[in-house]
Amino acid sequence: MSVSTGSAKDHVLIFDTTLRDGEQCPGATMTLEEKLEVAELLDVMGVDVIEAGFPIASNGDFEAVSLIAQRVKNAVVTGLARAISVDIARAGEAVRNAARPRIHTFVSTSPIHLEHQMRKSEEEVLEIITTTVAQARNLIDNIEWSAMDATRTPIEYLCRCVDAAIKAGATTINLPDTVGYATPDEYRAMFKAVRERVPNADKAIFSAHCHNDLGLAVANSLAALEGGARQIECTMNGIGERAGNAALEEIVMAIRTRGDVLPYETRVESTMLTRASKLVAAATSFPVQYNKAIVGRNAFAHESGIHQDGMLKHSQTYEIMTPESVGVSKTSLVMGKHSGRAAFRNKLTELGYELGANQFEDAFVRFKELADRKKNVYDEDIEALVDQNLATANDRIKLVSLSIVAGTRGPQRATMKLDVDGRIVTEEQEGNGPVDATFNAIKALVPHEAALELYQVHAVTEGTDAQAEVSVRLTADGRSVTSRAADPDTLVASAQAYLGALNKLVARGVRVHAHAAE
Ligand code: KIV
Ligand code: ZN
Repeated sequence: MSVSTGSAKDHVLIFDTTLRDGEQCPGATMTLEEKLEVAELLDVMGVDVIEAGFPIASNGDFEAVSLIAQRVKNAVVTGLARAISVDIARAGEAVRNAARPRIHTFVSTSPIHLEHQMRKSEEEVLEIITTTVAQARNLIDNIEWSAMDATRTPIEYLCRCVDAAIKAGATTINLPDTVGYATPDEYRAMFKAVRERVPNADKAIFSAHCHNDLGLAVANSLAALEGGARQIECTMNGIGERAGNAALEEIVMAIRTRGDVLPYETRVESTMLTRASKLVAAATSFPVQYNKAIVGRNAFAHESGIHQDGMLKHSQTYEIMTPESVGVSKTSLVMGKHSGRAAFRNKLTELGYELGANQFEDAFVRFKELADRKKNVYDEDIEALVDQNLATANDRIKLVSLSIVAGTRGPQRATMKLDVDGRIVTEEQEGNGPVDATFNAIKALVPHEAALELYQVHAVTEGTDAQAEVSVRLTADGRSVTSRAADPDTLVASAQAYLGALNKLVARGVRVHAHAAE
């Protein structure tokens, strides 16, 4: 495949790996329903390739990749496979029913990986590449091959590997910066060298896959385009292993905003970026940092007097892209307790939600409850409420009531009532503070071995009546899950977030017991 260098803008394929590399990071696990929702939104948004998971990793991953393959209408759907025969067969089976299936297989190529992890010689790895890529190509025509740790692989050997992969039938060649070590100049030069030296390089599309350990993932991905890459692998909100992957929203908006120096285009509808970011944050329960480029809460906020003055005179004084171009509508005071169903439905549509009849009724009831307790209900409040509702629809453990005794004279006490599989159970516990007492009550009612790894609170909007948004991460049996919940009462939000994480563990087969029936 040739890379055009004419004056027309070159098309860059956006390969989203939120559901594979993104989901791989501790605590970011999503349920099947959440994965399907994310995949369908990415497809509508115009992503070219969706990496839906790692089918050999578990039956759950296999099922998710298979269902996504069946549901996605436009994008190529791919599943990851190590350079092992059973992995490739499983990945092929999972994507078989996709309108546009792809198998993505990878093997390490760097000396450090060959010596310490694979314990194989260069010649043995070359042989593996030829055999496994050919096996994949016998199943499906669209094959991506990745040279894991490409940026720490000597260029001569990397070229031999790429040559072998293309000869065996790979149609996309991915050269990842697996450890986030490269600089933009080095990464650009690597693509240029490989494309110049491998005789049949024009038979494949080259792809960039960058990790953000040095904060260079997006810069490196854009540099790869100058070296001839025409596919970028990235994730929503930049989630992924360790410091994460290149952020999809940053790649798309850099290309869109700086067309003067980046003569490329993508198919992604940028006005859907905010919605996709929020959906992924809700599904993974990973909050987006406030100052995150493009999708952070402060990305379009102008605080300083000089900036505000300039913005009022002419928006381009301090704004290089409009909030509307990424789907941000100005935060508005929405509705209060007098707003009816029609107004609520309109607001949900404006925020990008399409709820079924039951989900709508549940959300409306919760909106009314919130409006009774909170003077001003903002868009962010409604998003928090609906996201929480979607996440808790199938929960087995539900909070019925919580009362707290707190203050300067301890010990603090929590009295909690839960509905566990339809059975009401009650418990009173003390703790070192009200949050500790609340969590102790949950542990007494639903004994479990899960360890609390993260407890984080922040305000959804401003003001003393703002909802508190709490994130909780629990780990058990090697599984790590995160859950978020929002409520004007911080302790209720804490209990809901803890129970949300517990429900996710239960859904993944971790055993818990219910006690103390009333
Ligand atoms: O970072 C990496 O090298 C990967 C490969 C599996 C493509 O994620
Ligand atoms: Zn990766």
